[in-house]
Amino acid sequence: MNELLYEGKAKRVFRTDDPEKLLLEYKDDATAFNGKKKESFRGKGELNNRISSEVFRKLEEKGVPSHFLERLSDTEQLVRKTEIIPLEVVVRNLATGSLVRRIGIEEKTPLTPPLIELFYKNDELDDPLINDRHALMLSDLTYEELMKIKEKALEVNDVLIEIFEDCDLDLVDFKLEFGRNTEGSILLSDEVSPDTCRLWDKQTGEKMDKDVFREGTGELVPVYEKILQRLEDATCAK
Ligand code: C5P
Repeated sequence: MNELLYEGKAKRVFRTDDPEKLLLEYKDDATAFNGKKKESFRGKGELNNRISSEVFRKLEEKGVPSHFLERLSDTEQLVRKTEIIPLEVVVRNLATGSLVRRIGIEEKTPLTPPLIELFYKNDELDDPLINDRHALMLSDLTYEELMKIKEKALEVNDVLIEIFEDCDLDLVDFKLEFGRNTEGSILLSDEVSPDTCRLWDKQTGEKMDKDVFREGTGELVPVYEKILQRLEDATCAK
């Protein structure tokens, strides 16, 4: 049995025999509002593992590497080992969610160029919004590395927009995390799934992401199943 290194809200991280690699196990738990709302949905871990694996594979194909190496089982994937930088990098193409609540901008306002926000990854503080100077204080990043992370986030946005366009979905906003690998380079890490992205159906505007759970407006598993199906259909159509 591999040693458990860390348990988060949606994933567990295990050591492997290879010091350069980690095993991620996706859990069935869904949380919202920093864990204040919590429920378990049978099959969610498998869906997010499959979705995130497929998205990372497509990103790599389009020239954006990440920590993802391979999907090992229904709920597990093998990734490159990184030390997570305690920042949540959010990119927004349309205004919604906390941005609308925070600054009163009208819902669905297009954000061109896309807006980047940084949040400090800290549960006790409820992941507060921070600026560049705070980010430098709170991490071991250099200024150049922070700028590179922001550039990378915008590049990921361009590629994800394309990937989800092929699935008839608008990418509204998403959160990325980055890690430092054993050689000191910065790499896209964590996951890209309907837990971390807002995805709206291009035709109907239907919300097809964790907002159905956050807002209690629908069933999470069938929505995530549709996302996986569309990603797989888009791959087959190529
Ligand atoms: O809540 P907010 O509007 O700031 O969320 C922006 C984006 O970041 C959404 O796509 C949301 O799913 C994602 N997010 C996340 N994890 C968090 C906070 C936000 O994946 N802790």
